[in-house]
Amino acid sequence: MNDLPALDAAYLPSPQLQRLAPGGPDHAPRILLLYGSLRERSFSRLLVEEAARILQHLGAETQIFDPRGLPLPDSEDAAHPKVQELRALSLWSEGQVWCSPERHGAITGVFKSQIDWLPLELGSVRPTQGRTLAVMQVSGGSQSFNAVNTLRLLGRWMRMITIPNQSSVAMAWKEFEDNGRMKPSSYYDRVVDVMEELVKFTLLTRGHADHLVDRYSERKARGEATPLNEPAAAVARGA
Ligand SMILES: Cc1cc2nc3c(=O)[nH]c(=O)nc-3n(C[C@H](O)[C@H](O)[C@H](O)COP(=O)(O)O)c2cc1C
Repeated sequence: MNDLPALDAAYLPSPQLQRLAPGGPDHAPRILLLYGSLRERSFSRLLVEEAARILQHLGAETQIFDPRGLPLPDSEDAAHPKVQELRALSLWSEGQVWCSPERHGAITGVFKSQIDWLPLELGSVRPTQGRTLAVMQVSGGSQSFNAVNTLRLLGRWMRMITIPNQSSVAMAWKEFEDNGRMKPSSYYDRVVDVMEELVKFTLLTRGHADHLVDRYSERKARGEATPLNEPAAAVARGA
């Protein structure tokens, strides 16, 4: 187990969380974490590393994608190994954590490039659809929500189940020790809240992703659904 500070009874033990979804898949929830910076001491990376420790404590299996070496969207073929690695991790995941720095009031290009390499649908495979998502941001200035708001929008676009809670760490440079660990604070507690909620939503919804993303309009376009307004259309035609 990792060396989390200040673990106490406020944490829900994993068996309690598992009881939320009896009969569901019995493996640990699989969570992919993405961050949005190539800086050597990147606080968005340190924040997802902290989030991963918390997720592991809650019984999840985690993977963090390293965006170094990922080409700009469309500058290389999708067969590029970093693109393949990212897509495979997204497919593997049942839930994701997205953490972007705020730059000029927006998410970073590094973060957006990762999302832009993820296809909504690749044949019958859907790397993001139906998965849970938690959004977080770090900023250098006072507290702001521009990046998390954009990430929420992106989550909708990628047809993910974005959980209500979120984390925004202001003046992130003040919140981490030299060794990269996050200092105890209300920001840290909020990250625990967000990860706990993500695990709960993941346990409740995984295994149902296909059903949750199944849409009438798309079944109709494939000729698999009877148009519901058929009688009204017939009246309009005077039939
Ligand atoms: C070009 C640039 C623009 C930035 N814009 C903002 C901003 O709009 N709001 C803010 O609070 N911080 C801003 N910052 C500060 C970053 O959010 C902060 O340094 C953050 O820690 C960067 O993430 P990283 O540590 O993962 O690289 C900006 C930094 C840079 C270099």
